Amino acid sequence: MARAWSLKARPQGMPKHTDFAMIDLDQSTLGAGEVRIANRWLSVDPYMRGRMNDVKSYVPPFALGEAMQGGAVGEVVESNDDGIKVGDMVLHMAGWRDEAVVPAAQVQKLPALDVPAQAFLGQLGMPGMTGYFGLLQVAEAKAGDTVFVSAAAGAVGSTVVQVAKAKGMTVIGSAGGAEKCAWVKSLGADAVIDYKSDVPVVKALGQAAPKGIDVYFDNVGGEHLDAALAHANMHARFAVCGMIDVYNSGAATQLKYLARLIGNRIQIRGFIVSDYMNRAEEFYKDMGGMLAAGTLKRQETVHEGLETMPDAFLGLFSGGNTGKMLVKV
Ligand SMILES: NC(=O)c1ccc[n+]([C@@H]2O[C@H](COP(=O)([O-])OP(=O)(O)OC[C@H]3O[C@@H](n4cnc5c(N)ncnc54)[C@H](OP(=O)(O)O)[C@@H]3O)[C@@H](O)[C@H]2O)c1
Repeated sequence: MARAWSLKARPQGMPKHTDFAMIDLDQSTLGAGEVRIANRWLSVDPYMRGRMNDVKSYVPPFALGEAMQGGAVGEVVESNDDGIKVGDMVLHMAGWRDEAVVPAAQVQKLPALDVPAQAFLGQLGMPGMTGYFGLLQVAEAKAGDTVFVSAAAGAVGSTVVQVAKAKGMTVIGSAGGAEKCAWVKSLGADAVIDYKSDVPVVKALGQAAPKGIDVYFDNVGGEHLDAALAHANMHARFAVCGMIDVYNSGAATQLKYLARLIGNRIQIRGFIVSDYMNRAEEFYKDMGGMLAAGTLKRQETVHEGLETMPDAFLGLFSGGNTGKMLVKV
């Protein structure tokens, strides 16, 4: 019998282990056009916190008591579809479970790039695409720009750092703690801010970017966003990707420097990665080239076993990951 995690209760603030429950899935028969997948790798992502609230958003909330969804990579073990064979490795959205039965139309064979399968949940998958298109399309970053990126040791942020360096930009990252900051520096960042140190981000950014920043890639919101506003140059562009600082608290962000938008003609744009899914080929081609050239480094933080899904998910909010947070089934 397949097993899956379900949401038992909608979390208030930081989710608790008691908000999750394991359920059995009865999926013994395979319908026409369906495939059965033994999941090998499961993704936990910050956006899943939003799906735990019963509010209208760009993705529907998780239904209480039912199997949760999320990115997953697995091996096809049974197929009722001519295009998908037993043994194929595929990417799909029926995660949070050890075995999935889904229509073949909802799975994607892994692109032919020389990386391990789990990379398609991270740097070569949704988070990587988010960093890539957020930087180059949403923020319109170009060679010569000074880019500031928060959560720079995470899945999206570490991609932004490396793509920006590969494209000739100066990069300042921010991350929590000396070890993560050293890793971000090893990716090529010109300067790294430890936002957990005693120095306020606004002061540290002023020291790291004495000539100001042209681009801010926001993964965090709050104090980071305000510091970026404080040091934004004329015509700076902000790509607002995420605001993990407020996902659990829901607190209003105080922005002391917001009015700098006006005089400095700063552009702020939010985006969702799905806006760029139709450009996946372009992403694989360019990232594939950087991979082949040895420009991209990748790191994963791996939890072992389906039982550890809630731990892995909760770890995203306490900095438990360097690079992409994954669960190996
Ligand atoms: N718009 C989109 O389509 C899209 C798509 C994917 C992701 N996102 C967003 O992008 C951001 C990064 O996602 P990801 O998947 O790459 O996650 P991630 O960065 O791999 O993991 C989350 C990291 O955020 C940092 N963090 C947690 N709470 C924080 C806080 N209060 N202040 C500062 N940093 C904090 C932690 O690193 P430290 O140890 O450094 O604190 C943690 O490791 C999230 O906001 C996510 O929602 C948006």
